Amino acid sequence: MAKPASQLHRAWWKECSVYQIWPASYKDSNDDGIGDIPGIISKLDYIKKLGIDIVWLCPSYKSPQVDMGYDISDYYSIADEYGTVADVEKLIQGCHERGMKLLMDLVVNHTSDQHEWFKKSRSSKDNEYRNWYVWKPARYDEQGNRQPPNNWVSHFQGSAWEWDEHTGEYYLHLYATEQPDLNWEHPPVRKAVHDIMRFWLDKGADGFRMDVINFVSKDQRFPDAPVKDPRTPWQWGDKYYANGPRLHEYFQDLGKILKEYDAFSVGEMPFVKDTEEVLRAVRYDRNELNMIFNFEHVDIDHGTYDKFEPGSWKLTDLKAFFERWQKFMYDNDGWNALYWENHDQPRSIDRYAQAKEEFRTQAGKMLATVLALQSGTPFVYQGQELGMRNVPREWDISEYKDIDCLNHWHRLLKHKPSDTEAQKSARQEYQKKSRDNGRTPVQWSNAPNGGFTGPDAKPWMSVNPDHVRVNAEAQVNDPNSTYNYWARVLRLRKKYLDIFVYGDYDLVDKDSQEVFAYSRQYEDQKALVLTNWTEGTLEWDSTTNGIKGVKEVLLNSYESTEGVKERFSGQTWSLRPYEAVVLLVQA
Ligand code: NOJ
Repeated sequence: MAKPASQLHRAWWKECSVYQIWPASYKDSNDDGIGDIPGIISKLDYIKKLGIDIVWLCPSYKSPQVDMGYDISDYYSIADEYGTVADVEKLIQGCHERGMKLLMDLVVNHTSDQHEWFKKSRSSKDNEYRNWYVWKPARYDEQGNRQPPNNWVSHFQGSAWEWDEHTGEYYLHLYATEQPDLNWEHPPVRKAVHDIMRFWLDKGADGFRMDVINFVSKDQRFPDAPVKDPRTPWQWGDKYYANGPRLHEYFQDLGKILKEYDAFSVGEMPFVKDTEEVLRAVRYDRNELNMIFNFEHVDIDHGTYDKFEPGSWKLTDLKAFFERWQKFMYDNDGWNALYWENHDQPRSIDRYAQAKEEFRTQAGKMLATVLALQSGTPFVYQGQELGMRNVPREWDISEYKDIDCLNHWHRLLKHKPSDTEAQKSARQEYQKKSRDNGRTPVQWSNAPNGGFTGPDAKPWMSVNPDHVRVNAEAQVNDPNSTYNYWARVLRLRKKYLDIFVYGDYDLVDKDSQEVFAYSRQYEDQKALVLTNWTEGTLEWDSTTNGIKGVKEVLLNSYESTEGVKERFSGQTWSLRPYEAVVLLVQA
């Protein structure tokens, strides 16, 4: 039976796919061991061939690089190691010439402590910039010891407040001490953010990815967070700083500028599980943001109190997260951003498939299929299209570079110096969840340093030794590669736009811990996406799962679609290890 047409509004940004570039590790053009913008420009054809519409450039502005550019000291210039503003202009032009768009990263919840604004702000209590950041007096305990204004923790360990001796007050930093939070209550701060946006949009940028944008409105009482974990009086204060009281007022202002330029926007929103709250930001007629990144599926393997504690999960949990967002956004004219990986996450083949090396390619293809054919805008993170994996198990801690991981390690050494078990467990978890896993240089070839930088250069972070087998050069001309499979998935999504972009979503075989399957339907056109999440062969009963008949095989991860149809003609279908198949079925 034909389903009623979707109530979803159509929009160009729903039909696009996005490719994320983390500049330090993309491609080095001058052999200094650090990726750069000319390096990115040299790879635009590679990105275009993948079927990408939008390139998102992670922060490349001037920065002391305490948090790899998420600590910006000047929003109007580019870090020397990455290039110049003129290089970004060339990058924009290179994208536009190929029919692609370019997104900049907008990091405006905080700046670097080396930003002129903060330097002035901390210089005295009565200077013009004092109020640009969040300054509070100390509290004192019964013994008269100085304490921070509240118990909030920083995302990078320890109190979220830093004492400033010079002016005798604390400032707030939800991330590193060197990343003070801006005070969005103060109108000149918001005006400065709007100016930055216009500056890059006027240069031809096509929109923004907005860093932790739901933290910009904070509860002005700055209360203590309720103590949930008796082991520590320090708590996430997210209840008071995520999705705060004036968030949508601020988003409305951002939305007006975005609309003026018909610009793309994706907001990063940690700590939101409430679909209604997200909808207020992304419902089509709200004109705030196009879509947001939520975190439920990437937090799936975190420990109860700490990301670096072991955590366990089931496939049914993962499917349930997706189902909830998929159905809610479809029914309410919202929109999803679809991602497995980014620069803060480990590689998906390791996290979700946990596949043995012999199944790397199949697992990578399976994950590509599951992600990109759901309802939403798919994001591909550099190297994901090649099936890049986590750092090697045997890597020493000295190979890890990320502040999040290293702060955790140093804190552990300080508090549990002789607890070798805790240290061993943390090391194992770093190899599973540290952000370093997604930050190794892109593997361009089997040359020394993976072709990322010159053979004699020293890359800022070691290249994964598996680049000798897994690299772009080996994949671009191989029709069976992960790279070319991603290209097929993205092409298929565009070819059947009604179904895969505007169709509705229903989970199939919901309770299975081995199969992730869903249908997409637009009026009387229906597709089934069926994937095996195990390394064994599975028998799958199509009839009991409500499939009435197969019209056509649209995609298969093992082979071309020729001659595959009979495998999906009877009642029981056999699925090979990590196999993915996309079928046009009877509605
Ligand atoms: C989220 C970014 O993705 C992450 O890399 C960064 O460390 C924090 N926000 C702070 O800006």
